[in-house]
Amino acid sequence: MPRKKILILNGPNLNMLGIREPAIYGRDTLDDIKRLCRDTAKPLMMSIDFKQSNHEGQLVTWIQKARGKADALILNAGAYTHTSLAIHDALKLIDVPIIEVHLSDPEQRESFRHFSYVGLVAHHVIKGKGAAGYAEALTYLSHIWQKS
Ligand code: DQA
Repeated sequence: MPRKKILILNGPNLNMLGIREPAIYGRDTLDDIKRLCRDTAKPLMMSIDFKQSNHEGQLVTWIQKARGKADALILNAGAYTHTSLAIHDALKLIDVPIIEVHLSDPEQRESFRHFSYVGLVAHHVIKGKGAAGYAEALTYLSHIWQKS
């Protein structure tokens, strides 16, 4: 079976993990999370493309380019989760499983984090599990493909 290609996108301020509000987001850096994803993906026969941008348009472009190329998308859109209709629209262009991931649990935080434009189109949401949530997203994908 060919390796599944997983695009993992991270939104604004996630490049600052490790020093950004560690009480909320933990001490793992984005590089640590990338390594965790690589290590988790390998035995699951998945290859990952792991990216981060602070720019909404860049994230939209990467989502558009995933059309017909990626087999699934794991997305932590950061604050754009709660604001970006443009990312929501881009996600509707791709016909693959979309897993929404958050390190923290936005619903347990300020009310302005409770609504998610990504959640309206995501197949599955993993939140509040820190870096381990990314690994769980990969495992979740392998399970849905095993069943089909
Ligand atoms: C976040 C939660 C968002 O509300 C916040 O704006 C982030 C990170 C998370 O991973 O917990 O930037 O997506």
